[in-house]
Amino acid sequence: MGELPPGQRFFRHQFGHEDISKVITFSGDVEIGYDDLGAGDPIVFLHGFPHSRALWAPQLNALVDRARCIAPDLRGFGESTAAPPFTMDQYADDVAALLDALHIERAVICGLSMGGYVALAFWRRHRARVRGLVLMDTRAGADSPETRIKRNDMIALAHERGSSAVADAMISGMVGKSTREKCPEVVDAVHRMLEHAPVAGVAGGLAALREREDSTATLGTIDVPVVVVVGEEDVLTPPSEAAILHAGIRGSTLEVIAGAGHVSNVERPAAVNHILSEFLAKLTLV
Ligand code: MLT
Repeated sequence: MGELPPGQRFFRHQFGHEDISKVITFSGDVEIGYDDLGAGDPIVFLHGFPHSRALWAPQLNALVDRARCIAPDLRGFGESTAAPPFTMDQYADDVAALLDALHIERAVICGLSMGGYVALAFWRRHRARVRGLVLMDTRAGADSPETRIKRNDMIALAHERGSSAVADAMISGMVGKSTREKCPEVVDAVHRMLEHAPVAGVAGGLAALREREDSTATLGTIDVPVVVVVGEEDVLTPPSEAAILHAGIRGSTLEVIAGAGHVSNVERPAAVNHILSEFLAKLTLV
């Protein structure tokens, strides 16, 4: 086990999960850092922007006894290396390549925010491999023209002033009001993860977000079990977006997490872990 990047180390320490395995695999000329822990039905955790797989430390801690938990760093983030340009399809294909390398045929795919966009791209491109979907603090739609302009401004900020300036600009939207008021240590841990994101990954990720396709038409094609999860205080992908996902996906369930913002899995880990455990339990009965 090597040295984890400082943002990941701090974040994991905060959530009591330092002793975690770390393996590197290759997808073409790309190195992918990932965790692969526990035994049971596989679940793949896809982080948001500009996170790393450390985001999922509170889930890996809790679920490792009941599922095989796989959490990759998307290319350009954490320990995964690659030069931009990036696309959601490419991130999704990296996940498929990782599953191939691990000899896993099908898995539950759980994505938060950008990870949810990747999960929807994964469904379009590799649906036979999807056992179920968890769409957390995410949306189906593409960027509006105004958001696309903001992505360009953020790319310029990343190049001019680095990832810590991006972290400063994003942190209040990233974490909900209740957490900002009551849990400054959680805000600090999230900020540290964001500020350590590699600039190339941040800029490439922003362009991938800006160019991503609208997944609204995809929703009606989903015929595996789905749970949609959203923090009630999420201002980046608010509950109204979760309601669109829920309405568009036949048979899906919707869970609203009280007192949580955009990173609901970190802000209210017990509530989210309970939802994930129940979802996994139901799947094994199907
Ligand atoms: C994320 O958390 O992945 C981003 O906020 C997604 C976005 O900006 O669309």
